[in-house]
Amino acid sequence: MKVFINKRIPEIGIHMLEEAGLQVALPESENLTYEEWLRYCQNTDTILSIGTDFRYDKEFFEACPNVKAIALYSVGFDHVDIKEANQRNIPIGNTPDVLSRATSDVAFLLMQSVARRASYNFQKVKEGGWDAFDPLHALGQELYGKTLGIFGLGRIGFQMAEKCKKAFDMEIIYHNRHRNEEAERELKATYVSFDELVRNSDVLSIHANFTPEHKDLFNESVFEKMSPNAIFINTARGGFHQEQDLYNALTEGKIWGAGLDVTNPEPMAEDNPLLELSSVCILPHIGSATVEARNGMAILAAENIIAFSKGEEMLNCANPEIYYHHSS
Ligand code: DGY
Repeated sequence: MKVFINKRIPEIGIHMLEEAGLQVALPESENLTYEEWLRYCQNTDTILSIGTDFRYDKEFFEACPNVKAIALYSVGFDHVDIKEANQRNIPIGNTPDVLSRATSDVAFLLMQSVARRASYNFQKVKEGGWDAFDPLHALGQELYGKTLGIFGLGRIGFQMAEKCKKAFDMEIIYHNRHRNEEAERELKATYVSFDELVRNSDVLSIHANFTPEHKDLFNESVFEKMSPNAIFINTARGGFHQEQDLYNALTEGKIWGAGLDVTNPEPMAEDNPLLELSSVCILPHIGSATVEARNGMAILAAENIIAFSKGEEMLNCANPEIYYHHSS
């Protein structure tokens, strides 16, 4: 069985696939055009898919009828039309858990960086602007005992909440599709409506899966309701926030600061006005960028492909319903 991997991943994943007797193909250049990418996909049985540049939609599936399974090298699957995959019984593997620690670390890092204006101050030092001690300049805020609001309390959200609880004894409120009993029990997290989340969070951090209904959910009308001291953190997907509205909220003092590991589009343009603001810290989508998480993702994605090649269910699958459908 053939596996197309569109970018080099940690060696362990490739090694596992080869050990399992699979025929691995890597492209000659990693920056493929859509047409080049399609050509590789037309000539493979399975894809170990890195990045979200291209969509797996009706057009793709029709153009690549030989593809029988896709293992994403990500937990997010917003670039896959799951309905179209289901219609063709194509399992879509993903990589939850192994990146939860690393991604929640980045949310925690952004929260602190914004609270203490770390990236602004670092930039000042680099530019030779380390001035005399000033009791009033660029003051940050402390997080002790403040309220963390989590939008989407799953695995990553839980870890962010746990860190904030342990480090700063923060109160945890959350809004989710389902109640998270573990978080309520272990972190004393309180389920609230979306409106309460927005109004009562000192730090609001997004950890939900992105779906089309979420597009621009955090917009002017939401920022309006937030506290002027609130910090907005997005490590999930850039589509969650309306960028111009976020910029306005920051410059008009409707919220205090923002930390983003994701933008829309990615990469963010270097002249983006958000980059000028002292109240902002922006990272280039590095949530899972640790040796440990990336190795874990390579192993899990390879395991997903290997399981499929043996006719077994993938270990982690964004559309497990296709298996229930088969066995019924
Ligand atoms: C994920 O795993 O979804 C990360 O955001 C990388 O795309």
